Amino acid sequence: MAKVDNWQLGREMDYPYEGARPEKQFTMIMDTNKCIACQSCTIACKGTWTWGKGQEYMLWNNIETKPYGYYPTGWDVNVLELLGEQQWQDGVYAGETLFEAAPDGEQVLGWTPDEEDWNHPNLGEDEPTGDADATRYLEDTPHSMMWMYYLQRICNHCTYPACVAACPRQAIYKRPEDGIVLVDQERCRGYQECLTACPYKKTMFNLETRVSEKCIGCYPKIEQGLQTQCTTACIGRLRLTNFLSKPDRPDPRKPADFLVHIRKIALPLYPQLGLEPNVYYIPPVHVPVPHLEQLFGPGVQEAIDMYRNAKDDPDLLGLLMLFGSTERIFDTFDVADGVARGYDENGEEIVAVPVREPTFVRPLEFTTDVKGEAVTGYRHNT
Ligand code: SF4
Ligand code: SF4
Ligand code: F3S
Repeated sequence: MAKVDNWQLGREMDYPYEGARPEKQFTMIMDTNKCIACQSCTIACKGTWTWGKGQEYMLWNNIETKPYGYYPTGWDVNVLELLGEQQWQDGVYAGETLFEAAPDGEQVLGWTPDEEDWNHPNLGEDEPTGDADATRYLEDTPHSMMWMYYLQRICNHCTYPACVAACPRQAIYKRPEDGIVLVDQERCRGYQECLTACPYKKTMFNLETRVSEKCIGCYPKIEQGLQTQCTTACIGRLRLTNFLSKPDRPDPRKPADFLVHIRKIALPLYPQLGLEPNVYYIPPVHVPVPHLEQLFGPGVQEAIDMYRNAKDDPDLLGLLMLFGSTERIFDTFDVADGVARGYDENGEEIVAVPVREPTFVRPLEFTTDVKGEAVTGYRHNT
């Protein structure tokens, strides 16, 4: 095993291959607070990439209600239980990663879902948890003790992919130009070690073609400078497709670097597993912090506080307003005079949005009708 640097753990770790971190890494940022689980992203992806034979139950993008939703069934609780205790000390991960805990002769500690585990993607949907104590309802308003939230899930295009580590055919590779992780379908022989190894369960086996498939990061769009299908279909405007610089060289003008490394408001999913996943989440502000710390590691409370105070941070607020504002990937951004702007790699402006949308208040009473004739009226829904 090689020693590689995993910035999310705050330490080095063992990995079967030398690190091959790209200069710019495909990433997606998700603002969990805005998701309504409409599944527009899921359908946009499915309609584009997984409508064929053998792909009937395949969702490269899925939205699950936490804490009870899973696709496939039990994906995260199973791997957390397998790994055992996961402690952090002063921002450094003190436990073992899935690579370090691998059984003798294997590269990754993993488990294999049953076929039927893929058949219930809406399991646990809209199911809250907590104490439903009706007598305390008013006392706890506006945050009742019941909670749930939606988690947006795609392949994380990990810096240290478990699927790559486990494949005996070396049929999965990470593109050097943008870090997108792809299955070479010609090389794949259907060994399914990748399915067992990926803790996020984002490689999927096609029973018709007998080879594995996975989210391709919409690379044909990325190559044209466009954001992914799941991003552009998102009604909540909570996704941003972007690129991360190397972690020791973050550029505050670049949107993903700003959110992940400068403000540290967007956090990785289960960083303790050791894959350095490259999808980042702004945590939901209404959920108990201990639960969120298990999912997103240290820094949850700080991220929540920052989100709650975003109104006082024009750069952050402006960047959040740029989410979902254009299909094009913007390389840099700035905020000035109440306007947030995104620029392409040549510094040309491609999008501009007001940081605060104008509000128009209609008068409560009106004195003319639509034809301009005198009446006395009253608006009920002003
Ligand atoms: Fe591979 Fe899974 Fe990481 Fe995607 S999320 S790169 S499938 S290990
Ligand atoms: Fe699907 Fe593309 Fe989104 Fe991946 S990036 S989940 S392939 S729409
Ligand atoms: Fe390798 Fe997975 Fe195919 S382990 S051979 S990519 S099914």
